[in-house]
Amino acid sequence: MKDPKNPPDPYSGGRRIGVLISGRGSNLQAIIDAVRAKELNAEIAVVISNKADAGGLKRAEQAGIETLVLDHQDKATFATREDYDRELARELKARHVSLVCLAGFMRVLTSVFLEQFPEAVVNIHPSLLPAFPGTNAQYQAWEHGVKWTGATVHLVTTELDGGPIVLQDAVPVRDADDVDTLAARILEKEHYLYPLAIQLLLNGEWKVNGRRLIRERGSSA
Ligand code: GRF
Repeated sequence: MKDPKNPPDPYSGGRRIGVLISGRGSNLQAIIDAVRAKELNAEIAVVISNKADAGGLKRAEQAGIETLVLDHQDKATFATREDYDRELARELKARHVSLVCLAGFMRVLTSVFLEQFPEAVVNIHPSLLPAFPGTNAQYQAWEHGVKWTGATVHLVTTELDGGPIVLQDAVPVRDADDVDTLAARILEKEHYLYPLAIQLLLNGEWKVNGRRLIRERGSSA
């Protein structure tokens, strides 16, 4: 029976994603392109940046996607990190976002935010985690001299780059590489991997068991 006070959410079970950026937005572009090519069955409800000059905002505008800037340096509005995270979550919820995709969003999210989106915040990182978390992962790998590095898509927890791994893929490090050539090869892999991982998450049929994200049908990407 329908409850008039609690009408069903027309967006529930939906495929609306919110993308958070801070910079150039090439992963955002890969997501936009995958949606457009119908390789990713999702709707980008909003793109939010913490920086007004993020190049990714233009990419979103060109694609006709709503954009929003929430400037974390606006201390009059966001006195604390939690204040910022509360507002960020509110804006995403207002747009019925069910999966939040970090694409070069250079801020650590607090539990105030993460509790609003349990197992529904995902990030892409340019290394084979748990190797080389944090910033400049491509440089860390190159400088360490590993022969393989790669890209990882993982659920976001309060541990930096530490949540359950959704998908990862390897990239060779060649003797002739400098950091830039290596980073470019990793980025290409990211653009391939992120839409696939978002599709996997939106499709459901997975669960988190301890640290492990397990696909229930045992399929592999
Ligand atoms: C990517 O390397 C991503 O892995 C990392 O930040 C970078 C964002 O690049 N988290 P872009 O803004 O998507 O081009």
